[in-house]
Amino acid sequence: MTDTRQLDHRDVDLWEEHAALYVRTLGAACAGPVAALLDAAQVGPGTRVLDVGTGPGTVAAVAADRGAAVTAVDPSPAMVRLAHEAAPRARTLVAALPRLPFPDACFDAAVGNFVLGHAGPTQAVVAELRRVVRPGGRVGLTGWTDAPAAGQTLVGRALHAVGAPRLPTDRLRPSQSGYPGDAAGMARLLGSAGLRQAGCRVVAWDHRVGAAAWSEGLARLLGTGLLTATAPDPATVDRIVGHAAALSTPFLSPDGDLRLPHVALLALGWR
Ligand SMILES: C[S@@+](CC[C@H](N)C(=O)[O-])C[C@H]1O[C@@H](n2cnc3c(N)ncnc32)[C@H](O)[C@@H]1O
Repeated sequence: MTDTRQLDHRDVDLWEEHAALYVRTLGAACAGPVAALLDAAQVGPGTRVLDVGTGPGTVAAVAADRGAAVTAVDPSPAMVRLAHEAAPRARTLVAALPRLPFPDACFDAAVGNFVLGHAGPTQAVVAELRRVVRPGGRVGLTGWTDAPAAGQTLVGRALHAVGAPRLPTDRLRPSQSGYPGDAAGMARLLGSAGLRQAGCRVVAWDHRVGAAAWSEGLARLLGTGLLTATAPDPATVDRIVGHAAALSTPFLSPDGDLRLPHVALLALGWR
């Protein structure tokens, strides 16, 4: 059974309510480091891999395509349904950190792509992932950095330009969300949970998205109130999206797509 005592239900409800929108917007941007994460965790044919906070199953699908034996969990049933569609060969179930319904040492690798900061106390999360991998198994985690790339600052700059009140806790700022925002801090976090050879590096990628689709997704995200303290009125949404679109023009490629530079932290440790 899943132990939900330490769950932030407000957070889970948000994911549940906005799962479909997440896939088309934030989730697409989060796909950037998936291959690097799975490479680092040595996920290949036959690897028993756990994907925690699987969301729409992006990591689970790529791991399954590599021939891994995938288990994917998320506390949001809507996300688990999407993950099942994306990775039908994976075992998908509703479960939440920091208490997972698995015995000790039953996976070769456990990975979480942008789950830190959402899944409860960070130390407990890493300790739980260490518990479920076998000796010689790997724990891999990605997280945002406190030094974002240019493509990650556009929305914040647009909100600032129109004076829209941001969330009291900016969810993209790791150090305000309870996990380290730099590589040294992430390596220390994994090492302090007893993982060996813990290390962390910065990975960079361009998030490619059609300019119109990006603006439309931003408008929908703003309408949910996910990005701001209170949902802005439609006229303010239009102004924010207009500012963001203007700020994005340096990243327009000749084919009309945006190529938005992103960076993230990729941490790995061995049990
Ligand atoms: C930023 S999304 C990342 C989703 C996915 N890993 C990806 O690459 O797109 C964070 C995910 O963490 C999940 N989550 C929230 N609380 C959690 C918890 N306590 N344990 C595990 N996952 C949790 C959310 O439901 C959401 O799917």
